Amino acid sequence: MKIAIGSDHAGFKLKEAIKKFLEEKGIEVIDFGTHSEERVDYPDYAIPVAESVAKGEEDFGILICGTGIGMSIAANKVKGIRASLVSDVYSAHSAREHNNANVLCMGGRVLGVELAKEITNTWLNAKFQAGRHERRIKKIMDYEQKK
Ligand code: RB5
Repeated sequence: MKIAIGSDHAGFKLKEAIKKFLEEKGIEVIDFGTHSEERVDYPDYAIPVAESVAKGEEDFGILICGTGIGMSIAANKVKGIRASLVSDVYSAHSAREHNNANVLCMGGRVLGVELAKEITNTWLNAKFQAGRHERRIKKIMDYEQKK
């Protein structure tokens, strides 16, 4: 599995912790930055990560800002992206099982490191259940194609 990861300054510390957590599991991580806590703009990281995942360069993306909100808004502007802002374990598996989300967004100012690791692990291990969920996602993707 290959994962694209990105953050702004507010998500930097959590990004580093999640990157290490993934690498220790043998997952290949492509780090799109940022690389310090110097103030930056989250769309400059959300869009390159989302575009790379949409192109199929990585299996999934992980984006972290202060709340995860800005990252999810920006990533969801990219065609083919279903970014999910997650702060709890139930939503983590539902985002994959029901929504077939391909980007996980989290808030570095919202979550502790251990909860963020559990959310990441749960999100990555959950499988899309298709069936009725497929029909619903198709409606979103069809709308996106018409724009
Ligand atoms: C940065 O201060 C903060 O606005 C950003 O990290 C994020 O929370 C935006 O949604």
